Amino acid sequence: MDLDSVIETAATKAASAQDLAALDLVDSEMLGRQSVIAEARRQLGKMAPVDRPMAGARLNEITAAVTAVLKSRRTELEHLEADRLLSDDRVDVTLEAWKGGQGTEHLIGQTIQEICDIFVGLGYRVAEGPEAELGWYNFDALNTPPTHPARLESDTLYLDYGDPADEILLRTHTSPMQARYMETHDPPVYVVVPGKVYRNEATDASHLPVFHQIEGLAVDEGITMSDLKGTLAHFAREYLGPRTKVQLRPDFFPFTEPSAQLLVSCFNCDGEDPGCRVCGGSGWFEVLGCGMVDPNVLTAVGYDPGRLTGFAFGMGVERLAMVRHGITHIRHFVENDLRVLEQFRA
Ligand code: PHE
Repeated sequence: MDLDSVIETAATKAASAQDLAALDLVDSEMLGRQSVIAEARRQLGKMAPVDRPMAGARLNEITAAVTAVLKSRRTELEHLEADRLLSDDRVDVTLEAWKGGQGTEHLIGQTIQEICDIFVGLGYRVAEGPEAELGWYNFDALNTPPTHPARLESDTLYLDYGDPADEILLRTHTSPMQARYMETHDPPVYVVVPGKVYRNEATDASHLPVFHQIEGLAVDEGITMSDLKGTLAHFAREYLGPRTKVQLRPDFFPFTEPSAQLLVSCFNCDGEDPGCRVCGGSGWFEVLGCGMVDPNVLTAVGYDPGRLTGFAFGMGVERLAMVRHGITHIRHFVENDLRVLEQFRA
């Protein structure tokens, strides 16, 4: 390659370089220490001084021209590279989003949420407690002595059975939180407690060994049974519909006195269908146990039963969801059958 053809050669090689790395090679071939231009520059020193200025000027022109050719190809390649990066990294925002398998809150969770919300609207707080519970909270603090039939091994799932002083069991109801909450909070108390409970029980259409309850507790000065009835009537109308009527019937729980069960009028048949799936034709169905807090319970947690009174109630979440949504078997809550679950999207 002689000096005359250097510019043309540089142009051809630059044009055929397809990326910056290839252009770097052309660059060192045309301008580097081994290049024709570098060699010519070395020869300058050996020329007769009179010839040097002309030859030097020509060499500078050629160097500038080659540099310019390489620089313009470099700019071109840099743009191409940027375009390629942009198109490779492009996200097509018009593509359809992935739609499969979106979950939803389980109906039991939704029901707990909805019921707790009703009480929060009345000024209640929401608390939760341990599922593995001491016998003291599950029974003794609730006025249930060691001789009570519910304390037999056959009736309760014990983790450590024996000495009533330190036995540990899976709580049979949410009521132990009555005692735990009063122990750690000064009156007045207005609280609801949702949670899982466990019973040594065979499964049928309305029973599972593990189910959910929501406990309610109100303790204050001057609380009477009419407060209990008014509160539960409000709850029933909110959850089951505004025309719902309520009725209290005597019952027995060791930790309330007097005790009662709450019955609500059948929203399904209004008592007119003898074969009604909800009330069985009686026009009423039972939804929870309740009563006035026994003074012994207040004493056990260090409250003054001379100054304070209160009421408590405990409802079964599965049962309430079943009657309201027309679910005929309790196993539907635990079988995880999507055909069932998808009917109750939150
Ligand atoms: N704990 C009782 C049960 O599980 C329900 C109940 C709660 C009754 C509060 C009275 C007061 O059957």
